[in-house]
Amino acid sequence: MTGATAASAASPDGTLAAPDLRPRQNAPAMPGVVIVGAQWGDEGKGKVVDLLAERATTIVRFQGGNNAGHTIVRDGEEFKFHLIPSGILHEEKTSVIGNGVVVDPRVLLGEIDNLKRAGISVGNLRLSANAHLIMPYHVLLDSAGETKLGKNSIGTTRRGIGPCYADKALRLGIRVQDLLDEKILRTKIRAALEPKQQALRELSVQRRKRLKEAGEDAKPIEESVQVPDPRLDLHAMVEEHVSFGHRLEPHIADTARLCWEALDGGETVIFEGAQATLLDLDHGTYPFVTSSNPIAGEACVGAGIGPKDIDEVWGIAKAYATRVGAGPFPTELFDDVGEQMLQRGHEFGTTTGRRRRCGWMDLIALRYAVRLNRMDALAITKLDVLSGIGPLRVAVRYRSKEGAVLDTFPYHQSILHSAEPEYEELPGFDLDLTSCRSASDLPQEARDYLGFIADFVGVPVRLVGVGPDREQVIWLED
Ligand code: IMP
Repeated sequence: MTGATAASAASPDGTLAAPDLRPRQNAPAMPGVVIVGAQWGDEGKGKVVDLLAERATTIVRFQGGNNAGHTIVRDGEEFKFHLIPSGILHEEKTSVIGNGVVVDPRVLLGEIDNLKRAGISVGNLRLSANAHLIMPYHVLLDSAGETKLGKNSIGTTRRGIGPCYADKALRLGIRVQDLLDEKILRTKIRAALEPKQQALRELSVQRRKRLKEAGEDAKPIEESVQVPDPRLDLHAMVEEHVSFGHRLEPHIADTARLCWEALDGGETVIFEGAQATLLDLDHGTYPFVTSSNPIAGEACVGAGIGPKDIDEVWGIAKAYATRVGAGPFPTELFDDVGEQMLQRGHEFGTTTGRRRRCGWMDLIALRYAVRLNRMDALAITKLDVLSGIGPLRVAVRYRSKEGAVLDTFPYHQSILHSAEPEYEELPGFDLDLTSCRSASDLPQEARDYLGFIADFVGVPVRLVGVGPDREQVIWLED
């Protein structure tokens, strides 16, 4: 082993301090901390954000929408969020939904209502006036598009994410600020709605044809063209969205300015990514990706800050790997070990309830994520899930179909699709880790496992998760 490892980072007496993210005295104001997923999502970012948020005044989400799902367990109580930043449980802090997020107003209002019912104040929730809205037609288009793709589908969450970002790029999007002016709202929805009605009609006709050919649908094709879908009625849509606007108005703000004020005042601001690096629209496993950029660079665009506002980047990775939806996953397991990870890790989606695909930790992919995000530190979550699963394996290179050794993440889709992982085998551990609270409580094999990861990817592991509760963590010194 070379360089700093998590194991060697543990001080001999096992006393480990949480990293101090507080603004330094007389230090230049640069306390922007970005937290991103380092794999295919569901790494447990919510819990890490919740923990690091203790030292911040402001927590900002910068991309994605309600395709994400964060679960935070606090004192045994479980909170699930899709849109609201994980920092919301710190009521005195400002929680921001940035301009880069796509917002389904119905979902957001539902989350606000749930929090209020649980007695949690949402008085400090701020919503960017520039964020785009997921409209009912986006959700319909996402579903119809996936159905059309059939066995080639992406496996999206069908929450309208892709069609909403597409409208944003087409300049046909409806923004949060539009909710506050009925006339503008009506004009914009009318312009956006017409092509969607056409597209949906066409998709519906094609579907009927396909079903008919397969002998599955007796209804006449014309029916789908003639019956107007009540969910696409302009008048009703405008009315409903005006009322959403009334309810959201107290939260709508110039959120980029809010971030600047906090950063310039020397406060710590956490920028919370959703999804993860390998689902990035530009750098992930395209086309099996989401429609936004979940990497650290996007914090600038999606929140409205400059690159120099970012002081620290944390990547969150599970101690193994999971993926939902279709797309390449070189270390995927189809055996008992994968099943054990699924069951013990409760690997079912927070948003869709889908079974997650499980596999070994892929260090080629993780090293790629570390560099792409220029990470300073890693948090490794769910280490406890691996106890009793020994020996442990980590992918350290791939081999191409032609037999070439690949020690970097292949940019070419076909190469990645057929890449075979080659593993390093490391000793496993049987101890139940859920009550470990310091590095010295961990068995040597677990420390070596973390050390191997840190060495391979070149950044320290600074936080380890050993259970779902926020107390079930181990801080490691850099
Ligand atoms: P979309 O983001 O709903 O368009 O889905 C695109 C791909 O990203 C699909 O494979 C989804 O399963 C995946 N995806 C989207 N959000 C998440 C997430 O929060 N965790 C894990 N996978 C996600």
